Amino acid sequence: APSLENSPEGNTYGNNDRQYPDVNWEEMGFSLTPTDYMYVMKCSTGEDFSQESLIPYGNIELSPCSGILNYGQGLFEGLKAYRKEDGQILLFRPEQNALRMKAGAERLCMPSPSIEQFVDAVKQTVLANERWVPPFGKGSMYVRPLLMGSGAILGVGPAPEYTFLVYASPVGSYHKHQRSLNLVVEEKHHRASSGGTGGIKAVANYSPVLNALTRAKAQGFSDVLFLDAATGKYIDEGSACNIFSVKGNTISTPPAHGIILPGITRKSIIKIALTLDYQVEERPVTIDELMDADEAFCTGTAMVVASISSVTHQGRRIEYKTQADAVSQKLRETLTGIQMGRLEDTMGWVV
Ligand code: COI
Repeated sequence: APSLENSPEGNTYGNNDRQYPDVNWEEMGFSLTPTDYMYVMKCSTGEDFSQESLIPYGNIELSPCSGILNYGQGLFEGLKAYRKEDGQILLFRPEQNALRMKAGAERLCMPSPSIEQFVDAVKQTVLANERWVPPFGKGSMYVRPLLMGSGAILGVGPAPEYTFLVYASPVGSYHKHQRSLNLVVEEKHHRASSGGTGGIKAVANYSPVLNALTRAKAQGFSDVLFLDAATGKYIDEGSACNIFSVKGNTISTPPAHGIILPGITRKSIIKIALTLDYQVEERPVTIDELMDADEAFCTGTAMVVASISSVTHQGRRIEYKTQADAVSQKLRETLTGIQMGRLEDTMGWVV
């Protein structure tokens, strides 16, 4: 049979004419499309994770008294698999997600899978759901590893049993139909505070942003920008992304110590910017500086690199450059080029 592999009109992939599912790849946003399988592995306190299994994707059973449901003892990760033009599937720096989960697990008193177990679980999940990895250039497969206290615990303490689970969904753009983002600075709530969990991917970091995010969206903004809890002078993060400002040839972003999530896209963009001869400063950035920048952008696995078209702070709105020659566009082109296998992976990032 003729290979229609990855052609825009084709509906098969691989060299055995395997069928893609019936998905309109062009219309995908960042929402769940359930796939076929998920990966599950458990362990009890004091043991290592073992007895992995790939099972049909579906609901899971949890004790009403589980650590995750009662005390938020849980972490998540996010990474993407891209299909290359030749049909191969690429993962981007999966060991970095494994390391970040390990650091978060220590903070939340959870055992974590080894780096090898994590990466292997991600690979198995992607391969088991291979038909859901979108054709080249049509989006990606978002892979979501979860680590949770699944055992019952009534008094506050670490759960007696843990579950590591990986599921996946094909996705398109996070802010579909928005070429660039309009942010509003949140005046009432903070995302993270010193000594807290802002620097790890705790599931409980994300529900506290919903109130501000919902208010921002109701006012027509794309997303919210949080300030530091200690002084309210420095930029923190968006609801689910790191923030960068650009002034001349210098790119600045808050340091990933404690209150800032050490984003893998953040770290990769810093490296790419340095190789493209930009100056990069990881230091506290005031909201006043951001309002005075030439350009601003967000990074995240889900958002990739999204340019910011405006920031509104205390009723004052400033607009940034978002043209095709913007710094964020160059960085995005390079990053996605590597992630999708269009550019040579000189950093050794793709798997
Ligand atoms: C990611 O970029 O993977 C994130 O963690 C954002 C997610 C909360 C949508």
